Amino acid sequence: MRVLRHGEVDSTNERALAALAEGTARHGDVHVARAQTAGRGRRGRRWHSPADEGLYLTLVLLPPPPPPPAAAWTVAAGLAVREALEALGVPDPSLKWPNDVLVGGAKLAGVLVETRGLDPARPHFAVGVGVDVAQRVFPAEIERERAVTSLARLGLARGVDEVLEGLLPALEARLVAPGAPGDLDGLGRDYLAAARLAGRHVRVATAQREVEGRLVGLSLAGGELELALGERRERLPLAHVVAVTAL
Ligand code: BTN
Repeated sequence: MRVLRHGEVDSTNERALAALAEGTARHGDVHVARAQTAGRGRRGRRWHSPADEGLYLTLVLLPPPPPPPAAAWTVAAGLAVREALEALGVPDPSLKWPNDVLVGGAKLAGVLVETRGLDPARPHFAVGVGVDVAQRVFPAEIERERAVTSLARLGLARGVDEVLEGLLPALEARLVAPGAPGDLDGLGRDYLAAARLAGRHVRVATAQREVEGRLVGLSLAGGELELALGERRERLPLAHVVAVTAL
């Protein structure tokens, strides 16, 4: 993996997508910035990116065609980040749909997978990862929106580079290595276990409605979440799923 270090940038995802557009990007490139002025979160949110307080990175993937579904990268990236943070001493991190890393209900890290003008003959993905490392204070509007935490708040005195060093092997294994992201059924099972959702009674929110049932499977190949509602099975397209909450 090639680590490309930036000072202050708009967004490392934007830098990775620009390198992809220019044709200079390589599979496994990692863009890391000290600060971002326009860090992006999921669902159009901003990612608060003060200098040297968080890890802001984007991994470039140029997998061979045909590409696995985007949801597979989303899930694999969440698992990699969760595993790396656990190895760094984070107590009992879990995943919240689709790939927020939470500790005790507070968000510690997030992942944003983007692609621009995807050509199935030459697939590319930009996997952006943000980890709160040294923040002790967050802007009031972020604290109002959701519970947040950082390694510092959890009592873990780790430097941003130390977190990067911990993350690289996990990203390599789950996303960059030949054959990644691997067996999609296994990935789906790993995800449901890490998200503490396997076999649980859940509420799934889509843009249109909410459905409650027992979560029996996550098919990344089929792009569906499978719920049992008594005798009946309901398959919800992953692209429509906004939130999954264990009841
Ligand atoms: C989320 O949970 O909403 C996803 C947050 C992803 C933030 C990271 S920080 C590095 C990369 N560059 C960005 O602009 N966003 C991602």
